[in-house]
Amino acid sequence: MRIAMIASEAAPFVKTGGLGDVLQALPAELARSGEHEISLFLPYYKSIKYNPAHEVELLTSFTINLTWRQQYVGLFRLMQEQGPAVYFLDNEYYFCRDGLYGFYDDGERFAYFSKAVLAAINWLELRPEILHCHDWQTALVPVYLDAEFRHCLPDAKTVFTIHNVEYQGKMGAEFFNEVLGLDDCWRGVCAYDGCVNFMKAAILKADLVTTVSENYAVELRYPYFAHGLSGILAAKGDRLKGITNGIDTEVYNPGADAALVQPFTAETFAGKQVCKRALQKELGLAQTDAPILSMVTRLASHKGIDLLCYILRRLLERDLELVIVGTGEAKYEHALLSVANEYPGKFSMNLRFDSALASRVYAGSDMYLMPSKSEPCGLSQLIAMHYGTVPIVNATGGLRDTVPPYNAETGEGRGYTFQSYNGDDFLGAIDRALSDYYGTPEAWAKLAKSDMSVDFSWTQPAKKYIALYQSLI
Ligand code: GLC
Repeated sequence: MRIAMIASEAAPFVKTGGLGDVLQALPAELARSGEHEISLFLPYYKSIKYNPAHEVELLTSFTINLTWRQQYVGLFRLMQEQGPAVYFLDNEYYFCRDGLYGFYDDGERFAYFSKAVLAAINWLELRPEILHCHDWQTALVPVYLDAEFRHCLPDAKTVFTIHNVEYQGKMGAEFFNEVLGLDDCWRGVCAYDGCVNFMKAAILKADLVTTVSENYAVELRYPYFAHGLSGILAAKGDRLKGITNGIDTEVYNPGADAALVQPFTAETFAGKQVCKRALQKELGLAQTDAPILSMVTRLASHKGIDLLCYILRRLLERDLELVIVGTGEAKYEHALLSVANEYPGKFSMNLRFDSALASRVYAGSDMYLMPSKSEPCGLSQLIAMHYGTVPIVNATGGLRDTVPPYNAETGEGRGYTFQSYNGDDFLGAIDRALSDYYGTPEAWAKLAKSDMSVDFSWTQPAKKYIALYQSLI
């Protein structure tokens, strides 16, 4: 099959969150067997363009129109023998800026990108059978395909993946006339709630809509989770599917992670204790056998930081150590830092993002906290388990799929869950974990090792995507 992946970020080129991780691992996994022709299209952001590590060649340049605007498109290809063919779309006016998102003209920038990708695919004569678009930034691809590019891609099918329904790409109603330059018959497809809504248009037009866990595909049919799109998503019926993400087990490999003083596996589990001691030393925590509870997170309310703040002082009365790594909303940064200052040696607050430190925290901790209010899939609970750290999560979205509750009687399950977004229930789940940690240390070690042994790689999810693509063609 020929599959074109279209997205606004992909590691190792550029990444602001889980989307970038998925777009690194999934195309690589699809390309691995050599059976499929995979291409990946990204904007040529400043940070990619001026990074000498990425060697590229210019293939061509042309212009496209967005109403009266005539915009340049430079088409670059990454010089790379293995893996997917990676293409960058260059336009300095739109993409040579500091940062990826958050500009007044984001709608115009990504409408441009979606249309330019189709023109590039046409120029390259790639003839993909599948165009796989991710999140609102590429949601206009299925629209422009039908409106202006069907003659060159008569049989192409479209898949649209929702990584987070909160961000839909909502523009004012005037955006339709001022930017999109589409025939009037497309107005209804794009319009929603008095706005132009990119994601809504993709949900209507894509042959298949997917999301990043099976449970989130169920949740998206309900108003509580769908941010206004539940009706349209529910109407999609069985053309809305969930495939749970994996993690890149080459990037996240506790057995060969250069950031760790002693890499370890389930078989050499004693190394985890060495990593714990080293982490305590690095962060100035007391060298005790109390469990280390950790979070590596954006400090945003939907990550459940309000629940954490609510239980924080009670939590710190328990016999444990707490480590948080991340930045975010100022109110949370201040609140957490001021409490951390009261508990030196017990609570380490690290207001920065540093991937090597993150690795050491995943490896050196005993329990990982993820009380997200909603979570389409979540990757850090998977990384934590892969590093032998037992997760404690709100059973929502992909957290429900990936962290079945631990049953001490049977030894089944992977972690501790709570069922409603409530701080006392969160603390209750932590208390259950603490009682098992202190009460039955052997069973605890068995649980941690069994979490490490679960296959969280992309092998199975990639097979599911292939099966879905095949069902369309
Ligand atoms: C978004 C979601 C997260 C998911 C990631 C990758 O960041 O919030 O839950 O894991 O996309 O699909």
